[in-house]
Amino acid sequence: MGIGTDTWVDDAADDGIFKVNTEVFRDPEIFALERQRIFDRSWLYVGHESEVESPGDFVCRSVGGHPVIMVRGKDESVRVLYNTCLHQGNQVCRVPSGHTSAFQCFFHGWTYDVDGKLVGLPGESSYGGRFTRQEHGLRAPRVASHRGFVFMCCDPGTESLADYLGAAAAYLDLVADQAEDMVVLPGSHRYTTHANWKMATMNAHDGYHVATTHATYLKYLRDSGVDPSQRRLGKRLDLGNGHSASEFFGAWGRPVARWAAYWPEALQEQLATKRAELTATFGEDRARLMAEVDRNLLLFPNLVINDHSAVLIRTWEPQSVDEIVVTAWTIAPRQEAEEIRALRLRNYLTFFGPAGFATPDDIEALECVQRGLRNQAMQWLDVSKGAATEASAPEQDDNADEIQLRAIWRRWRLDMGGSLLTAGSR
Ligand SMILES: [Fe+2]
Repeated sequence: MGIGTDTWVDDAADDGIFKVNTEVFRDPEIFALERQRIFDRSWLYVGHESEVESPGDFVCRSVGGHPVIMVRGKDESVRVLYNTCLHQGNQVCRVPSGHTSAFQCFFHGWTYDVDGKLVGLPGESSYGGRFTRQEHGLRAPRVASHRGFVFMCCDPGTESLADYLGAAAAYLDLVADQAEDMVVLPGSHRYTTHANWKMATMNAHDGYHVATTHATYLKYLRDSGVDPSQRRLGKRLDLGNGHSASEFFGAWGRPVARWAAYWPEALQEQLATKRAELTATFGEDRARLMAEVDRNLLLFPNLVINDHSAVLIRTWEPQSVDEIVVTAWTIAPRQEAEEIRALRLRNYLTFFGPAGFATPDDIEALECVQRGLRNQAMQWLDVSKGAATEASAPEQDDNADEIQLRAIWRRWRLDMGGSLLTAGSR
């Protein structure tokens, strides 16, 4: 590692300067530090409780580099267990999801119940008197959930999930409150991208790239009778702790009057009924927010929830300094009209899907950046758009400004142990 933490992020926003050292996108030693200082300390998204509805239902995930099992226990609570046998470290579960009464390690046959207790092992009597089953239950990280969204944390010293989420929790509520029973729909998208994880984090709601990177989608909207230039600007919000949100009025996401052409006539009545229900439950202001405003939520370090053309839950698991595995799901009301569900899924696939309008273009950009940054002559990457006016207008109303990206980098720098570079020290 040729540089110290002080030279990783140059934050002089008052002077309109915000730069990130490109070493942090290509140095494997910095990546190893990120594993310890960010992924092993943060609350990371594991899954949604609806994915494991009954006792014995489970999904296997890799979270921050840790293979885990999210499982509904016999007492109905959702647990996250390390997928590692206490005998010799083998993974006790090797299928992505299912239903079981026990996890049996295929290596030597140790068997654990769905609560992680060791309930059987061949030849137990030869272990001697000091061996206890209690000491050999599956280990677990800290686990907490907010409105059905399950997170884990490997560090006992990290604040509670509620404190970690802070103001961002309200944005999870805006998804959870859309129906009495929100469920992750079966199936997921999963793909590898040859890019540094932080570029994916920045891309999660970078407004500046949309007009150019996603020109094909904007043309599609125009061809569908929707004028994307009518897209109204919204807000970019630094929610604290590295989390951020953007709120905007998209040309596709909400069945409001000006985009009526995009929404089938036959659905208008059902949508009006739903809007009336939201108003009755949450009041006019919150119902308007839920029904008319699109939003992207970025939870540091690697979860995005985009609520517009459908609700996307996406996380990206770093494999190395230049590779991530992305997994994406969609969440929807358990009960909804067949035509609305079909439209929701079509929107999800055509925009967020791995062969949709957005994702292939974004992947191409992320991978091209990773290759471009091999040129070490390019020492600084610029994230200063809108920095000069950040202090006077913290809720930036230009979609293309980058306050939400600077929020990511400030948290990153703090976690990594770096300090602020001042203008005078450059
Ligand atoms: Fe994009």
